[in-house]
Formats: sequence, C-alpha cells, structure tokens
Amino acid sequence: MNFETELEQKTAAIEPILRRYLPAETGYQSKVAEAMNYSIQAGGKRLRPLLMAESAALFADTSVIDAEQDASAREAFVDRALPLFMAALEMIHNYSLVHDDLPAMDNDEYRRGRKTTHVVYGEGMAVLAGDGLLNYAFETAVRAFEEAETKEELYKAAAAMKILSGKAGINGMIGGQCADLEAEKLGDDVTEEMLLYIHEHKTAALIQAAMTIGAVLAGAAQAEIAVLERCAYNIGVAFQIQDDILDVTSSLEVLGKQVGSDEKNHKLTYVAMHGLEESKRQVAKLSEEAVEMLANFPKRNIFLEKLAKQLVYREK
Ligand code: IPE
Ligand code: IPE
Ligand code: MG
Ligand code: MG
Ligand code: MG
Repeated sequence: MNFETELEQKTAAIEPILRRYLPAETGYQSKVAEAMNYSIQAGGKRLRPLLMAESAALFADTSVIDAEQDASAREAFVDRALPLFMAALEMIHNYSLVHDDLPAMDNDEYRRGRKTTHVVYGEGMAVLAGDGLLNYAFETAVRAFEEAETKEELYKAAAAMKILSGKAGINGMIGGQCADLEAEKLGDDVTEEMLLYIHEHKTAALIQAAMTIGAVLAGAAQAEIAVLERCAYNIGVAFQIQDDILDVTSSLEVLGKQVGSDEKNHKLTYVAMHGLEESKRQVAKLSEEAVEMLANFPKRNIFLEKLAKQLVYREK
C-alpha cells in the first residue's frame, strides 16, 4: 500500500474513535456540547492521535487504528487506554484552536474550511466550548485508570496523565500561546530564542505529548521516551515553521484557514525572521533529524518515518 492511501485509511480510522467520546447534546448544556462537537467534527489532519498510535506501535505489537488487528489483541491495556488518550489529546488540540481563533487572540474567521466556532456560536459559547473540551479531555483520559488491572498499568495511566496535563499547561502549550501574545507587542525585538520558545511550547508540546504518551502506554523505557521527546520537538518545531510558511504561500481554499493571519496580527514568525528559503531548509533539516532518531529504534515503524518526512511537504 502506498503512503498516501495508508495515511488516508489510518486518518479515517481515527474518526470513529473520536466520535465515541464526544459529549451528548442534551439538556440545558446542549449548546456547549454542540459547539464542542462542531469544532471536533470539522475534521483536520488528526496528526496528534495518529502520532500517538504510531509511536505506541514502536514499542508494542499493536495498533488501534489497524483494521486488520485481531479483536483479541484489543484486550491489551495499551489498546484500551490509547483511544481514550488519543481522543483526549485531540480535544485539547481543538480547544487550543477554538481559543486561538477568538477575536481576543488571532481573530480568524475560518478553520478547516468552515467558519470558526465563535463565528457560528458567538464568543461566549466559543470560550465555553474551549473550556468544555479541555475539561472533557481529562474526563475522558482519566477513564484509563478504570482500564488498569495491574499496578504497572496504573503507573502507565498515571504517567500518561502527567504528560498530558503538563504539556497542555502553562509550561507547555499555554506557555507558548502566552509568549506568542507577548511577542506581538515586541515586533522586531523578538529574539530567535523567544521565537523558538514559542514554537517549542505552542506547537511541539502537544506533539511531544502525543508521541511520549503512546510510548508510555506501550511500555517504552525512560531512555526511549526521552529520545521520542527530542524527536517530537523536531517534528513540532518543523511543523510550526511549515505552518508559518503556508500562512504566507498558501490559500484559504487549500489550507482551510485564512492566510496572512500572522502579518495581520504582527507576529514575527520564522519566515519573517529568516526568509522563505531558509525556513524551508530548516523544516527539512529538523525533519531529517527526526527521521534518523526514529530509524534508530530497534523496532522500525516505516509509516511513522514516512509521516515525519512528509510533513516537510505538506500543503495543509
Ligand atoms: C494547527 O494545527 C495549529 C498549529 C499548531 C500549527 P494543525 O495543522 O494540526 O490543525 P488541524 O488539526 O489539521 O486542523
Ligand atoms: C497556534 O499557532 C498554535 C496553537 C496552540 C493553537 P497558529 O496561531 O499559527 O495556528 P493557526 O495558524 O491559527 O492554525
Ligand atoms: Mg495563534
Ligand atoms: Mg492562529
Ligand atoms: Mg498559523
């Protein structure tokens, strides 16, 4: 099977997993659930759950998004816990996007080819939908504790929760978004160090959560988890530089979100600092290093290596 078909199939297989954990649209709280579901069901690349499942496959003989998998294999803890964390991380990612698009932040009107959540549901409901997604992520992930049957499995669930909460928080994604807002006021005074802090935290942190949680649930050793965290740093920073490149070079039709958002918000991006060519070179270099790290694990995951490589050329 070629890479594109495999990517399509795996991405499609993630959808029912996400749907399984969506909130019910009932009662006086139905509107917030509707707004949460609107945001999640708009699609997207589902990169973070995909990276989580594929990183787990580096260490355990399993993949929850492999249709061929023998049903009895789903009895394993990793297979019961992974879907919970995959859904939880995508919820956190979606909440970050709903809030990122708000007028108080990037003030963007389109996301994934549709109107943004606040445009459809109003700003108040979009704030609540973001809050709801963040909290629902933890309501979902914590169920992994109920799936644990041994002390070791409990420890794995706890370690995964620790990563999820930390990488999403003020020393993770929120910290990056904070520096991103602060940088708007600094203009050309933003340093390279600050820019890298922003990329590492607002974007790479959730990618690191994806890859290391997959590894933890699959029973990887500490040293292996540390390598994956570095690898995810490279993939995440490259991913954000590419996002900044596409904000300049792409179009609403292809990207599904309005281009020129960074310039509009006076963001000093990697592209503004180093130019397009150097940015592209940097994306390629970071991805190559990431692929090398992946290729050094005893068990190879060729699909994951190709995915890391392909992100350099992604157009959306
Ligand atoms: C967008 O993330 C925000 C960034 C961190 C650049 P994605 O490009 O993964 O967005 P979706 O989920 O595919 O829409
Ligand atoms: C956002 O970065 C990263 C988040 C944590 C949401 P951007 O602001 O560049 O993401 P897009 O371009 O709106 O998707
Ligand atoms: Mg932003
Ligand atoms: Mg934005
Ligand atoms: Mg962007």
